[in-house]
Amino acid sequence: MDFYDYEPRLRRPPRMKTPELQRDKHLKHMIFASQFDRDLLEHLASVADLIRVLARDKAGSDFLSTQLSEKRAMLYFTQPSTRTFLSFTAACQILGITVNEVRDPSLSSEAKGESPFDSIRMFSSYFDLIIMRSRIPNFAECCAYLMNDLEDFNQRDVPIINGGAGTDEHPTQALLDIYTIQRTFQFTSPQEMDGHFFAPSARYESSSASRARFDELRERPEYSGLTRGLNNKEYCFCGDIGRGRTVKSLANLLSLYDDVTLHFVSPQHPKLGLPGELQNRLLNAGARVLTHDSLESLVDGVPVIERADCLYMTRIQQEYNEPGDADSFRNINFDNYKLTPDLVARMKDYAPILHPFPRDANFGEIPPTIDTNPRAMYFRQARNGMWIRAALLAYLFNVDRDIASYYRRNFAEYTSYAAANSTT
Ligand code: NCD
Repeated sequence: MDFYDYEPRLRRPPRMKTPELQRDKHLKHMIFASQFDRDLLEHLASVADLIRVLARDKAGSDFLSTQLSEKRAMLYFTQPSTRTFLSFTAACQILGITVNEVRDPSLSSEAKGESPFDSIRMFSSYFDLIIMRSRIPNFAECCAYLMNDLEDFNQRDVPIINGGAGTDEHPTQALLDIYTIQRTFQFTSPQEMDGHFFAPSARYESSSASRARFDELRERPEYSGLTRGLNNKEYCFCGDIGRGRTVKSLANLLSLYDDVTLHFVSPQHPKLGLPGELQNRLLNAGARVLTHDSLESLVDGVPVIERADCLYMTRIQQEYNEPGDADSFRNINFDNYKLTPDLVARMKDYAPILHPFPRDANFGEIPPTIDTNPRAMYFRQARNGMWIRAALLAYLFNVDRDIASYYRRNFAEYTSYAAANSTT
């Protein structure tokens, strides 16, 4: 097989593709953010909340580590990665999955001319799951089709998880971003959150730990329009919008929510600005979409930096520069895409600052002096990635229900008591 063979399938609109990526309405492969819906995002967040409580306890952590101890995962990451690679590794370890890796294809048989598709098929012979990152936008998608074709011929096939596909999609980063935003706009302390479980949502009622996450709103009279949850908010993305796969995946997920405004602040350059196709998709999903060239741009007389309920900073991704790009960027004032302590001080005091990381220390889109500001959420965001990825793996391999039952039997009372009596 070659990329050419997958062309017709790749060209289809996402909605036509998603049924092939699931079995019995349950995700099989995780390739696009649009495979998630609000119920599933809520469910995974609930499972992640349980896992993080269980993992703090010796018995809970021992229980988790038996859940998938018969499984082996291949992490095939041929593009640089720190957080996605390590948090997937840690997530696998939490659930007892054995992890193996290929990161440098020059040390695998690809150096002898083996095609990446043959590599994938070989991985599927030895492992039960392939988590992959590639510079090639549609490679993970093609691999999912390869697995489905094998299934059709009664050959061994395994789930594929996309850990970043060129400039295209990074669905599990969007998942952890949503989880972080959910936790932020729950407006409860972590102790309170760990204490309230199980108001099951209709869809996952019999199978899950889902619960009403937003029923503890602390009054914020100074922000009269502020509501709990992800609805009814202004989200601002800043930096390299055009080549930011995390931006694309997260913006798609945010557009699932009601009354959402999405601000995109980037240089007015075709490579760096909001792609027309994404803009149309977001508008069709019902989001209000506004583009700006500075965080100071005014909307109804108020600068974007002061309007945002959540700010998502990104790095200028120079590694995707093509010949001529650096020259064409020469007249851009990149200072407009850097955060300063003064700008942060003007933000709403509850508005989290997110960044998928790595931040570029040379460029300085978020100077480290901002790290101690209570709005700086990016390190917690990265840790959330481990819990929500563990939740995703638990869901994919159908142990999420067992984890919820174990929690209910052994931990629910304990954490309610701890939350009620906690002084921190
Ligand atoms: C991002 C990525 O690789 O797309 N990082 C990540 O996965 N946490 C963003 C980036 O590299 O700038």
